[in-house]
Amino acid sequence: MKEEKNCLRLDGKTAVITGASKGIGKAIAYAFGLAGARVVISSRKQERLDVVAAEFEKDGITALPFAAHVGDADQRRQLISRTVEAFGKIDILVNNAATNPVFGPLETISLEAADKTLQINLLAPFALSNAVLPHMPEGGSIIHISSVEGERPGKYMGMYSVSKAALSMLTRIQAGEWAERGIRVNGIAPGLIRTKFSQALWDNEKIYQYALRRIPLRRMGRPEEIAALALFLASDMASYVTGSIYTADGGYLAQ
Ligand SMILES: NC(=O)c1ccc[n+]([C@@H]2O[C@H](COP(=O)([O-])OP(=O)(O)OC[C@H]3O[C@@H](n4cnc5c(N)ncnc54)[C@H](OP(=O)(O)O)[C@@H]3O)[C@@H](O)[C@H]2O)c1
Repeated sequence: MKEEKNCLRLDGKTAVITGASKGIGKAIAYAFGLAGARVVISSRKQERLDVVAAEFEKDGITALPFAAHVGDADQRRQLISRTVEAFGKIDILVNNAATNPVFGPLETISLEAADKTLQINLLAPFALSNAVLPHMPEGGSIIHISSVEGERPGKYMGMYSVSKAALSMLTRIQAGEWAERGIRVNGIAPGLIRTKFSQALWDNEKIYQYALRRIPLRRMGRPEEIAALALFLASDMASYVTGSIYTADGGYLAQ
């Protein structure tokens, strides 16, 4: 029997994606838009978002570009209120924006850098989720973009790893507490994906070759390969899926 639920469509849904001007966030927003969702694309620079929205609109996607620094409480509030004003509700929230301001041993990381990492990677997703909750109907889906670095200690990425590990725990706690509201919460832990964020790892041939040797599929991932997983988790196809972290890492964590 044909089941209408069994498809990766997001028609009639509104999705807010942070860090959507490039990389993984942009790929997720594009995939959601093609699947029928109205997408609110957010990052710090309005001009870049306007360009992305125009690009999306050419493909028939309804995109609202809205600049907001996820570490700024006021801008987070404006992002949510503008979305609700435009679309009335928020069915999907993707907490994707993140930072990794330092690379080096723990003892060299300043308190300021550690604080910034936790503010952007952990407390902003926590606060945004809480702010979205009153506007999220039953069937809603929250997706946190974590990292393999949050599942296994990464060399010289100390506070970044800590922030992503904590984000994974936040995922599980939210899933437990919000299940009775019919809201699902999941995380995605990408491995090495070719974006600006990971450029230091693929720009230098020696570091890149070292990284590839640790990935069983022997290649970097593409942002679209994370978007595919996000689309599944956002859709009704994942209606029994909540409280877990899914890796898309070319087998990195399996070793
Ligand atoms: N690439 C990888 O290998 C990899 C691996 C594991 C996990 N991840 C995770 O994947 C997510 C996306 O990373 P990416 O590789 O796609 O990075 P990216 O290509 O550098 O894109 C980052 C996006 O976030 C925005 N952004 C940065 N800081 C922000 C802030 N404070 N407020 C709002 N927006 C902000 C950026 O735009 P503006 O600069 O204009 O604000 C941009 O749109 C992150 O959570 C990262 O930890 C990436």
